Amino acid sequence: MEQSKARITAIGSYVPVKKMTNFDLEKLVDTNDEWIVQRTGIKERRISEPDQYTSDMCVSAAQDLMQRYDKSLFDVDLILVATTTPDFIFPSVAAILQDKLGISSSVGAIDLSAACSGFAYALHVAEGMVASGLHRKVLVFGADTMSKITDYTDRTTCILFGDGAGVVLVEADPEQTSFLAYHQGTEGIGGAHVYLKGMAEKLKGAEMSNTGTLVQNGREVFRWAVRNVPEGVKAILEKSSYTTNDVDWFIPHSANLRIIEPICERTGIPLERTLYSLVNFGNTSAATIPLALDQGIRDGKVKDGECILIYGFGAGLTHAGLLLNWNPHPQVHLPESDL
Ligand code: UT7
Repeated sequence: MEQSKARITAIGSYVPVKKMTNFDLEKLVDTNDEWIVQRTGIKERRISEPDQYTSDMCVSAAQDLMQRYDKSLFDVDLILVATTTPDFIFPSVAAILQDKLGISSSVGAIDLSAACSGFAYALHVAEGMVASGLHRKVLVFGADTMSKITDYTDRTTCILFGDGAGVVLVEADPEQTSFLAYHQGTEGIGGAHVYLKGMAEKLKGAEMSNTGTLVQNGREVFRWAVRNVPEGVKAILEKSSYTTNDVDWFIPHSANLRIIEPICERTGIPLERTLYSLVNFGNTSAATIPLALDQGIRDGKVKDGECILIYGFGAGLTHAGLLLNWNPHPQVHLPESDL
């Protein structure tokens, strides 16, 4: 097994066409645009069609990647899909994608469940697989159709979530790595603060409601994130030789601007150097980080050679972050995008 460097060589993304604005939500629940913007920073979100699922959005994101970087995906040897809204419990979205994207049948395909932290965890797994020499070309998706598990009668959650998909390609490279440092953490005791009911009735004594839609104690998740994410950011920087001044772009999970602001304050990373996708897309769970990164690239903010710190956090409760050197292959074509 030949060890290698792991390099993120390409990115793609997709959001559904249909918009749901705060004004649309005013017609569904007792809320208003001013409250939502003030408390979350979110103005609108994208909603998938009734027959459009996570695998469909992943296909569109992969097509965007292939077009922009002129990449063939046939010889990908591992598909990782970070999602909590798979088309089915099984087969996995990753297996469905092997067929839909026409990838060689020798590929491995697995979904990875870590909610809003999922993309960061999947990227970490991909790095390990490539750097160890076990795999050479890994597709990493962060994708969620949150609208399919959102209760549109619950004003405390329905204002937050939207749908979207992002994907990156991690390839073996003889010289360059994209991965500089990593940090993670899990506090399973907080699992009942945000969940989707499964087969079990209780978690650490807490009764789980039987709704089939996401249930959240927003205030608890909020407090936990503001306390833990700044610590995680500091830990990553300590593990590397980097300081906050070396971070060109900080991309925390886009849960809520009122969570991002204190995180920036506590870590000393200015909000001006922070990218988030929540204003137009809401909380797209595993997709928020790749969407914000791709939006930054398309807006001409993120440039090759820059240092990016991504940090995911959410259900579990879990968190994970990576310090990245952004050094993809050149783009050959930049198609029109909704981003
Ligand atoms: O992706 C990771 C997982 N999720 C998160 O990170 C979410 C983290 N939490 C949050 O984003 C925030 O806690 C929320 C946005 C969910 C709520 O904001 P908040 O400032 O924590 O509000 P709150 O829950 O303390 O509620 C304040 C008031 C309440 O009224 P009373 O009891 O004070 O009369 C709520 O009933 O605001 C009321 N409220 C609303 N009012 C208008 C709650 N939701 C709404 C709403 N519109 N949509």
